[in-house]
Amino acid sequence: MKIAVIGTGYVGLVTGTCLAENGNEVLCVDIDKNKVDQMKAGVVPIYEPHLDVLFDRNIEAGRLNFTTDLKEGLDFGEVIFLALPTPDGGDGSADLKYVLGVAKEIGEYITSYKVIVDKSTVPVGTADLVHSTIAKDCKTNFDVVSNPEFLREGFAVDDFLKPERIVIGSSSERANEVMQRLYQPFVRSGNPIIIMDEKSAELTKYASNSFLATKITFMNEIANYCQKVGADVDKVRIGMGTDSRIGKRFLFPGIGYGGSCFPKDVKALHKSGKDINYDFKILEAVVDVNEKQKTILYPEISSFFDGDLKGKTISIWGLAFKPETDDIREAPALYMIDKLLEAGAKVKAFDPEAMENVEQKYGDKIGFGKDMYEVTEGADALLICTEWSIFRTPDYKRLKSNLKQPVIFDGRNLYPTVELAKEGVHYISIGRQKV
Ligand code: UDX
Repeated sequence: MKIAVIGTGYVGLVTGTCLAENGNEVLCVDIDKNKVDQMKAGVVPIYEPHLDVLFDRNIEAGRLNFTTDLKEGLDFGEVIFLALPTPDGGDGSADLKYVLGVAKEIGEYITSYKVIVDKSTVPVGTADLVHSTIAKDCKTNFDVVSNPEFLREGFAVDDFLKPERIVIGSSSERANEVMQRLYQPFVRSGNPIIIMDEKSAELTKYASNSFLATKITFMNEIANYCQKVGADVDKVRIGMGTDSRIGKRFLFPGIGYGGSCFPKDVKALHKSGKDINYDFKILEAVVDVNEKQKTILYPEISSFFDGDLKGKTISIWGLAFKPETDDIREAPALYMIDKLLEAGAKVKAFDPEAMENVEQKYGDKIGFGKDMYEVTEGADALLICTEWSIFRTPDYKRLKSNLKQPVIFDGRNLYPTVELAKEGVHYISIGRQKV
């Protein structure tokens, strides 16, 4: 099939590349000329495992191309994916200016039947709004389909090529047939293509992300409670997770969820409820608890140093909001850095992928190292903010000889408490007792 993808952010780029990998001809459109030039030269503008291999292969095969010309994209594609940003409009709601701006141009320009696919995370009712915006000036038939993405950063290529489910929101037989033809090759394993109306599809995305954020937040509260009553959240987590109704995944407590999706989507669903006088109490609590969760480790650090962090050096392992990404949006590490700097501490940080992004934000206010051990040399304590695999089995001997004293504050519960006690490390984690 011939496909145009409008917007080459995270979602658009993965979508375009993976659709090309499956034999489709894809033209990606972006207004950012520098980015388009870069991509034409074979440079992937984001870090996402395996994307570079697919990217090169499909450019070389001539199936993946780039342009800044929206009209060229609209001429080219039978299916037009909208993968445009929907940023926080300032009051928690999703701002649709980019989506509706492109919709207007589509209406003015297209002259033959197209399936317009909303891939961005958009509020319930957006497909209707996109439809009416296009229809205003449009002289031909078209359909608007809602097709939310469920890609996880770090696993996006795998999630796209082998999805657990595809959700299609459409009331048009013609568009459904096109979408099923497009996605059938990705679900040969038997995973479902679920067809529903547009509004239900739009809500499925918000409900899924909000539910997952709620699940994590619930465990964060259980962890905080464990800490107070002398229980161990690891044991509670395993005890709970073996009930198949609950499931083992997304029960890991920590210093809060972050990223580009959960914080934005939970707030947007809450706000959309408010707009129609529906009070999503549970979502309000999720937002509040998560904000609080980011703060729970700092007082432990501060009190260990008797409230005086001035001149102390804190080494940080992990800056990205989660492993396998360089994304630092809403990352709990940023809160910790701000608090430590505010208290007069020095910060030396290491992250396998996110240091460049953090350096852009903080300049020389914090230091970095070339590896995880270098940043611990001469530091007063180690703080762990992201659970990269490389941090899971450290060389304790080396770590202890590097640190001034063996102290670890772990916001991701990477190590068994007993093991750290044996190593003689003062170890504070989340929802577990100090041994
Ligand atoms: C999420 C959804 O999983 C994906 O389906 C959607 O399309 C986009 O949003 P992503 O933001 O990439 O994907 O990250 P995810 O792996 O879901 O993790 C989100 C946050 O939750 C991270 O900050 C992570 O550290 C945190 N988390 C996750 C926990 O704190 N505990 C857990 O048990 C799981």
